[in-house]
Amino acid sequence: MAKNKTKCIGVLTAGGDCPGLNAAIRGVAKAALHNGTKVIGFLDGFRGLVENRTVQLDDASVSGILTHGGTFLGSSRDKPHKMNMAGQVMDMTAVAADNLEKLHVDCLVCLGGNGTQKNALRLSRKGSVPVLTLPKTIDNDVAGTEVTFGFDSAMQIATEAIDRLHSTATSHHRVIICEIMGHNAGWLTLGAGIAGGADVILIPEIPYDLNHVVDHIKARRHHNKRFSIIAVAEGAISAEEAASSKKKSDEITLHTEKNGQTLIAEPKASRLARELQQLSGIDVRVTSLGHILRGGIPSPTDRLLCTALGTRAGQLLAEGVYDVMVAVRGQACVPVPLEEVAGTTRLVPTDHPWIKTARLVDTCMGD
Ligand code: F6P
Repeated sequence: MAKNKTKCIGVLTAGGDCPGLNAAIRGVAKAALHNGTKVIGFLDGFRGLVENRTVQLDDASVSGILTHGGTFLGSSRDKPHKMNMAGQVMDMTAVAADNLEKLHVDCLVCLGGNGTQKNALRLSRKGSVPVLTLPKTIDNDVAGTEVTFGFDSAMQIATEAIDRLHSTATSHHRVIICEIMGHNAGWLTLGAGIAGGADVILIPEIPYDLNHVVDHIKARRHHNKRFSIIAVAEGAISAEEAASSKKKSDEITLHTEKNGQTLIAEPKASRLARELQQLSGIDVRVTSLGHILRGGIPSPTDRLLCTALGTRAGQLLAEGVYDVMVAVRGQACVPVPLEEVAGTTRLVPTDHPWIKTARLVDTCMGD
């Protein structure tokens, strides 16, 4: 066996959690331990790295977690270069780098979405310890990979929800709006919308005209289909909003804190329901799936993907391949330079085959 080039790794999970994180930690840790690498877990994402809160991982601590939801290491949306430390936002990059050096970590493995890819690359550039990342998010919007882990599980949950909404909508001849996570990318709404047979699918990439949605619902009624399911991504915007770039201000409002209080904007689905009702007089109900999409056990596909990505990461670490994200390309897990990935969001191309498929079964895409 070739010499193992990595003696010690740190592992952290950052950003919004998703099913499959534990399976991925297990994959990385088992492969690394197998090569004789020491594995240190940092708690609660980059915050645990800055605060030096660690747990040493051995075979026992990563056994029996393959099927568990969430992340046993904990997660947070903290960034080392802009961290809230007792009410003050500070650049803690040097502290993070120092902690890694003191622990003799050769490479920091970061499991996360778009924000994490950026934060990991920044840390690697500013500190002296390289990184390796895995693409995680239910949004499926990380560049450089064909798919992210967590997406398949979330799509399964969203599809089941749409199935259940179908039966009650049919009984009451109602229109039901199902709001699905995804601020910038519509992969989850599109995938689950097609799989669940939604009649209208609204995603951020295709600004909608509410009049078209009303026409579609009315045409269905005319053909004696007296219920309709609308799958809407939380970041979907109308054509007017797109033109006036109102979405930007909405996003800021959603995440703004004022006088210590988080301001929460009216969710997309309830605003859509109100506007739809005003425009058409049709009785509308709303279900927002929210964090249900991120909870619970990973699907078999995600368990397999996380194990493949995690163990491939272990191999790459042994070879000393750093500053890469392990990406999915066909059946293979391949390293791609992190700088090619970080900072790019993979949106749904408007000519994507899934969109064509949806239109071919007469789904209204709002345009
Ligand atoms: O990034 C994943 C995601 O689940 C998005 O789809 C969603 O908009 C966001 O996280 C919600 O974040 P939080 O859990 O911090 O409210």
